[in-house]
Amino acid sequence: MFIPSLLCSLQIFLIITFIAQTTAVVVYTNDYHYVCDQSNNKANYTTNSTYHKNLNTLLTTLTSNTDINYGFYNFSFGENNDRVYSIGLCRGDLLPNDCRRCLNGSRENLTSVCPNQREAIFWSENERCMLRYSDRLILGVMEDAPDFSSNNLDDSVDVSLSDEVVTTLLNNLTSRAAKGDSRIKYAVGSLPGPQYEVIYGLVQCTPDLSENDCNSCLAENLQQIPSCCKGKIGGRVVRPSCNMRFETSFLFYEPRASPPPPPPSPLSPPPNTTGNNTKPC
Ligand SMILES: *[C@@H]1O[C@H](CO)[C@@H](O)[C@H](O)[C@H]1NC(C)=O
Ligand SMILES: *[C@@H]1O[C@H](CO)[C@@H](O)[C@H](O)[C@H]1NC(C)=O
Ligand SMILES: *[C@@H]1O[C@H](CO)[C@@H](O)[C@H](O)[C@H]1NC(C)=O
Ligand SMILES: *[C@@H]1O[C@H](CO)[C@@H](O)[C@H](O)[C@H]1NC(C)=O
Ligand SMILES: *[C@@H]1O[C@H](CO)[C@@H](O)[C@H](O)[C@H]1NC(C)=O
Ligand SMILES: *[C@@H]1O[C@H](CO)[C@@H](O)[C@H](O)[C@H]1NC(C)=O
Ligand SMILES: *[C@@H]1O[C@H](CO)[C@@H](O)[C@H](O)[C@H]1NC(C)=O
Ligand SMILES: *[C@@H]1O[C@H](CO)[C@@H](O)[C@H](O)[C@H]1NC(C)=O
Repeated sequence: MFIPSLLCSLQIFLIITFIAQTTAVVVYTNDYHYVCDQSNNKANYTTNSTYHKNLNTLLTTLTSNTDINYGFYNFSFGENNDRVYSIGLCRGDLLPNDCRRCLNGSRENLTSVCPNQREAIFWSENERCMLRYSDRLILGVMEDAPDFSSNNLDDSVDVSLSDEVVTTLLNNLTSRAAKGDSRIKYAVGSLPGPQYEVIYGLVQCTPDLSENDCNSCLAENLQQIPSCCKGKIGGRVVRPSCNMRFETSFLFYEPRASPPPPPPSPLSPPPNTTGNNTKPC
């Protein structure tokens, strides 16, 4: 189920590993991570095929969209076997323009590192955003693989106590994030550590997940923390549907009061100004 802890190293610049459960190959660097053909040995698409064109159209539509300002994109394009599905997710503290820039950059990198793949996923540096596409329906489906984890190699000041604080914090954030709505499921927070330090945490699910699925995805991440990050001052576990990170005395997210407000609903009628005779005196 879980990848071995030897993957837990920020120092290793490039690792190629096989995940036992799937045939996918996770490639990651300090900057970004990606997986081409994450679930199967699918036949590649041919250059300039309908699938290829649909994929280009889809990713162009996604990365040029300026209406969405809550960091979650779900688009599909094409018919039957050539239909392509995609999801884009930005870390909950990214402002809309930074989010778009991140997804656009991810699109460029993803299409160059995974050419001709019918399915692929890309996480940008520090999971600022994730972009994935597939030839199957991926919206609303909780996916916990492929995953990766890494830790901050320093040992924490007081190992056992910090681990307890980390667990308490991440549990709390998990239930808060899972209660989010269909636009954003994200929570950040901090707790005082055993000495004078502060432990910061961030958890996020793709908001298409149900509260239960978000909880169970993040619960898997939390279970993996001991094997990847026990006694470390920081660590992260990342899956297609959810991710989790903590750091000691390192505020790694923008502490915003609340996510950006939702856009005005296109369905709400414009204000009725006709027949308004109430004039100021
Ligand atoms: C698909 O193409 C990649 C190179 O882009 C190659 O490594 C892989 O073996 C191909 N997969 C199949 C199933 O042909
Ligand atoms: C794909 O289409 C582009 C634009 O029409 C063309 O320049 C390119 O040569 C084509 N590539 C292949 C492999 O057919
Ligand atoms: C996306 O990136 C491409 C290439 O860098 C650039 O030409 C394009 O303007 C960008 N699109 C947006 C919407 O930022
Ligand atoms: C895309 O790749 C370039 C070169 O490796 C890197 O500098 C950039 O940060 C990447 N963009 C994203 C969004 O990951
Ligand atoms: C999480 O922490 C907040 C603030 O410390 C607290 O109000 C809340 O009750 C906690 N929730 C859970 C489920 O632990
Ligand atoms: C996904 O996209 C479809 C089609 O545009 C839309 O109807 C649906 O509400 C979207 N779902 C979410 C969770 O954004
Ligand atoms: C009339 O104008 C007032 C003040 O601008 C506004 O609050 C109200 O909603 C308007 N009524 C209608 C029917 O548009
Ligand atoms: C706008 O308000 C006026 C007066 O209140 C009403 O007669 C009219 O039907 C309303 N128009 C619409 C489109 O709701």
